[in-house]
Amino acid sequence: MADVEVENQVQPKLIIHGGAGSSLKGKGGLNAVRQSLHSIVEEIYALLLDKASATEAVVKGCQLLEDEPRFNAGTGSVLQSDGQIRMSASLMDGTSQSFSGAINVSRIKNPIALAKFLQSQSDRVLSDYGAAELTRELQISPYNPLTDKRLNEWLAERKDNFSKSMAGVIAESEAGRGTIGVVALDSQGNLAAGTSTGGKGFERIGRVSDSAMPAGNYATKQAAVSCTGIGEDIIDECLAAKIVVRVTDGLSLAAAFERSFVEAKQNQRDLGAIGIAATGAIAWGKTSDVLLAAYHDGQNIGDTLEWTDESLIDCS
Ligand code: GLY
Repeated sequence: MADVEVENQVQPKLIIHGGAGSSLKGKGGLNAVRQSLHSIVEEIYALLLDKASATEAVVKGCQLLEDEPRFNAGTGSVLQSDGQIRMSASLMDGTSQSFSGAINVSRIKNPIALAKFLQSQSDRVLSDYGAAELTRELQISPYNPLTDKRLNEWLAERKDNFSKSMAGVIAESEAGRGTIGVVALDSQGNLAAGTSTGGKGFERIGRVSDSAMPAGNYATKQAAVSCTGIGEDIIDECLAAKIVVRVTDGLSLAAAFERSFVEAKQNQRDLGAIGIAATGAIAWGKTSDVLLAAYHDGQNIGDTLEWTDESLIDCS
């Protein structure tokens, strides 16, 4: 029996991201980002080897990335036009094909924890007031995710335009493309994807991020994808769902990424994505200059931090 179990086991795969952008400067430089992403990949891949499910690995990976202040999610989230932090996160289990998420939630350390809880509920996506009520119901301690760095960024951006109406100010800062995401294939062959963000920064109150929509985070039994970049661009491409549906309809993961990123480039979008197929293929793509992603392919840890060639996608 033990032999049969081993035979049926799948080599786990993992890919994570800490956003996209035009440079690594604001994130503390290449080495710091690499160290941070690699150590999270190492920790989460060990869980997968230890038989954690894909959803467990994704939730834990998102928590670690939310807790890392250099990324725009959880602690270190950017501020909106009114100086408040509102975060969004979602989780999709590819096996049950169920999506759950929290939109524009405040005063919580790990928004992904709400998405995890909502997986088993009949109402699976909650927004601001409802998400706050749920946080209280679950007795999750209030937490302020503000960092000095984000406050100073906001103050600097606002210096010249405090005279404008707060809700009318939309600034495209470097942080605007920040998001975190995790995609995992577990040893039973199950896929899951999770994505979490502080949003674009300086957005209008009530703006909804792609990160808690199937456009930015989607999974079936065949593939799972998490996106980063400008939310409106991701929504317009319906990127995560588009890639996953292409794989579900028979394209390889690489071909699905290739076709989707050619379209995104033609449409002048600013975004990136990571994904894994049930076959074990891993892929990533970007139209932005830099994609902060790292992966474990079963043999080695790799990353995309110095991937600067002209191709739109790459795979492992
Ligand atoms: N992709 C994150 C956002 O635009 O909110």
